[in-house]
Amino acid sequence: MIRFLLNDQLVTLEDTPSDLTLLNFLREYKSMTGTKEGCASGDCGACTVVLAELKKNQQRPEPYTLPDTLQYRAINSCVTFLSALHGKQLITVEHLSNGHSAETLHPVQQAMVAQHASQCGFCTPGFVMSLFALYHNVSQESHHTPISRHRVEQALSGNLCRCTGYRPIIDAALSCCEHSAKDEFSANQAKTIEALHAIQQQSEGVDLGTPSLLMPTNREQMREAIKQYPKARIVAGSTDLALETTQQLKTLKTLISVSAMASMKRATKTESGLEIGAACPFSDVSPLILAYFPELSELIERFASLPIRNQATLGGNIANASPIGDMPPVLLALNASVVVDNGINEHQIPLSEFFTAYKQTRLAADEWLSKILIPCKAKGDLLKAYKISKRFEDDISAVCAVFVIRLKNGMVESVSSGFGGVAATPLTCPELAEKVVGKVWCKSETMQIGQAVLLQAFNPIDDVRASAHYRKQMLANLWHRFWLETSAQDNPIAVRVISSEQISEYGDSHA
Ligand code: FES
Ligand code: FES
Repeated sequence: MIRFLLNDQLVTLEDTPSDLTLLNFLREYKSMTGTKEGCASGDCGACTVVLAELKKNQQRPEPYTLPDTLQYRAINSCVTFLSALHGKQLITVEHLSNGHSAETLHPVQQAMVAQHASQCGFCTPGFVMSLFALYHNVSQESHHTPISRHRVEQALSGNLCRCTGYRPIIDAALSCCEHSAKDEFSANQAKTIEALHAIQQQSEGVDLGTPSLLMPTNREQMREAIKQYPKARIVAGSTDLALETTQQLKTLKTLISVSAMASMKRATKTESGLEIGAACPFSDVSPLILAYFPELSELIERFASLPIRNQATLGGNIANASPIGDMPPVLLALNASVVVDNGINEHQIPLSEFFTAYKQTRLAADEWLSKILIPCKAKGDLLKAYKISKRFEDDISAVCAVFVIRLKNGMVESVSSGFGGVAATPLTCPELAEKVVGKVWCKSETMQIGQAVLLQAFNPIDDVRASAHYRKQMLANLWHRFWLETSAQDNPIAVRVISSEQISEYGDSHA
């Protein structure tokens, strides 16, 4: 059973296809065609809808108990399976006009009209829904202050428009978010919270999910589900797995969703580092990660778009073993480990030993990834993460390189690294440490030794994102950039950019 509110109406699903996307559910089962399909791959935002979910009010610590509030998340319905809906309120563009009043536009729609922010309108429902989530989330913040253009850009990072241009859309966002939210949804908030609480209570002791979309809530149920359906795929945020149905037209007969596993949705700071549940949405854990690794702010902002970050999980980004996932290079450079569970025992695997081949890992058939452990870096360690992609946001890496270096008296004491897009799996480069540890960091020879190592260490492939030649050059250039950015104080600027001829030379000798 999957239970949710479709605006203010309770919906119970007993049996739907496991791989039915939310977009197809709305358009084909509910005839709600306001939500559009553009790319069907989480890239354009035409399909954006909003999920509101209960959130503990943490403005005052215990023993004060404040009522829950609602958190609004824009998500891409084209890459979302129905398990994501349980216990939440689903709001689509139809609900904005009907909910407010048949004749009156919602404040975000009014702002779009006033700013001439729409032409063909194919993208418009998606923009409106992203703005709707922003409008409510800003309004709920304790000190409601005017929002920045940067925040608007982040909120719209998953929406593409090819007619109007973004300036009027951003103006619409800035003007509608000037005031506290005043709409049907804020007026009905207490009722919605009560209804979501009721769903939570009714869900206790009941089997969640459907016969083909299982939703275990604890380790025992998870173990049993895998035993019963050994061929079932495990799904967390679904932003990657759903592409198999929308792009490759595969049928995923049975799915086991971890979205109801409370133990996999916690993220904490421990004595040794961060412990992150594999099923936590990325947008929930990124503030914790940034609190301890602020150097990752650009990479995290560029980890897909906000609607994808609202769904995708750190566990999924690792377990799918993509060679171009954004976080594995970071986690490799930080010497992270994963915790693997089979419902009886848990064991830890260093991430550097987790990936075995293209899209393959050391997970046994009866295991799942339950946690990620990230050790804190030592004071003074220098960390930099670089992502090269065709678009700044909402895009996949052509090359990702992450370096952590520790210096003592100007000498390299240790180096760790992680790379994506240059091999069949995310990889570290232990040879880099072997060659540069003990060298004087500010000397250009040290940088050049590292470049030579990186050019020899990887044999990337040509594909639509970049050529092998380009990828190799990027490795050398990113290492160069890292050196420039971290050795600046004593650096005599005696540096050189490695030439294409040298790349060919290295490439040829390696081939
Ligand atoms: Fe393009 Fe969903 S249809 S993001
Ligand atoms: Fe956005 Fe045309 S108005 S794509």
